[in-house]
Amino acid sequence: MAKKSKQTKTLPIYILNGPNLNLLGVREPEVYGTTTLPQIEKMCADQARRHGLSIVFRQSNREGEIVDHLQEARTGASSVIINPAGYGHTSIAILDAIQALAIPVIEVHLSNIHRREPYRNHSYVSKGATGIVMGLGAQGYLRAVDAVAEILKVSK
Ligand code: DQA
Repeated sequence: MAKKSKQTKTLPIYILNGPNLNLLGVREPEVYGTTTLPQIEKMCADQARRHGLSIVFRQSNREGEIVDHLQEARTGASSVIINPAGYGHTSIAILDAIQALAIPVIEVHLSNIHRREPYRNHSYVSKGATGIVMGLGAQGYLRAVDAVAEILKVSK
C-alpha cells in the first residue's frame, strides 16, 4: 500500500495586477518596459516552482473585482503579490481588503513611483504591505516571489 505523504501543500501565491497592466509591452514601454503580462506570468510561475510554490495570476481593470480577489485570498492563498497600478494611489477599498488578510503581502511597481509625478508618490496599499518592490521592472515580480518564499519558509 502506498504511504500517505505527510507533506501538506502550501497554498498558491496570488499575484494580482490592477488596471492597464494588460497593456504591458505596448503601454509606455520607456516607463514600464517591453515585457508583456503573459510573459511576467510565466516568469513568476517558473520562479515560484523553483521555490516549490505555485501561483494564481490575475489582472483586472475593476476595483471591486480586485477586492473580490483579495477576499478570496483570505482562505485560498499563502501570500499575495499585488501591483495595484493606478488604484494604489486612490483605493482605500483595496487597502481595507489587504488589511483584512493575515498573510504576507508584497506590493510591486515596475517603476519607482517616488521618482515620478507627485500624484504617484503616495500609495494607500503600502500601509497594508509587508514589503514593497519598485523600480526593477518585470524583475521586481521575481524578487517579490523570492521574498514571499523566504517569508513562508521562516514562518513554517
Ligand atoms: C505602476 C505605477 C502606477 O503609478 C501606474 O498607475 C501603473 C503602473 C507600476 O507598476 O509602475 O499603472 O503600478
